[in-house]
Amino acid sequence: MKIAIDGPAGSGKSTIARMIAENLGYLYINSGNLYRAVAYLAIQEGTPWQNAPRMIDLMKRHHFDYHPDGSVVVDGVPLLKELRGSDVDAIVSQVSAIPEIRHGVNEIIRQIAVSKDVVSEGRDITTVVFPDAELKLYLDASTQVRAQRRYEEKLNERLTSSVTASDSQRLSIDEIKNNIEMRDKLDKEKTVGALKIAQDAVYLDTSDLTIAQVYEKVYKILMVRIAHGRK
Ligand code: CDP
Repeated sequence: MKIAIDGPAGSGKSTIARMIAENLGYLYINSGNLYRAVAYLAIQEGTPWQNAPRMIDLMKRHHFDYHPDGSVVVDGVPLLKELRGSDVDAIVSQVSAIPEIRHGVNEIIRQIAVSKDVVSEGRDITTVVFPDAELKLYLDASTQVRAQRRYEEKLNERLTSSVTASDSQRLSIDEIKNNIEMRDKLDKEKTVGALKIAQDAVYLDTSDLTIAQVYEKVYKILMVRIAHGRK
């Protein structure tokens, strides 16, 4: 069974996908982390994201593996925390707009998913990567709520890791909101793999819901789908 979840940043996709994976024993695939890994490498190597041929070459030069905890293993080195930095946030949507990069990431996801029960989330999972998924969800929330959630998430990450004072000072809810708005716009305007609500997706506005409430709704829908063995 394939479960596909799309939605903008901070809509709760990753948390819900992880909960489904843990409770049902499905493989969790976070497609955004694969795009983030390409963006991270470009920053490390000084490759300008504006230069599509060099970005495509960069992707070809490295080997990408996906780990079920969400980390991306590049040439044997696992990356996870590195992928969530504001430097990556700033360019990842631009990187993911390059059609050949999308093609490469989609291939990786489809290969990992062959013959497995999978829950995957991103921007085009319901529309491009797994258009035949048995369950499609589109999670949404207001921009303000999404920015607040991301802010709290980043605060928690910083509390549990050693970061420099200058990094902490840079954490501002307005900047996070601006980045989310910028990525929303780019994601919706992409020529390939744009963020949109699939016709057969279940739409959930999670602005006023707790994660537990969202999960309860999703779980009920999922059980009905499994019981009926149909879309
Ligand atoms: O976690 P968050 O929602 O902030 O973003 P993400 O899922 O880690 O994805 C990072 C970026 O990659 C998004 O802003 C999208 O621009 C892009 N992306 C995409 O184009 N297609 C996907 N299937 C997943 C992510």
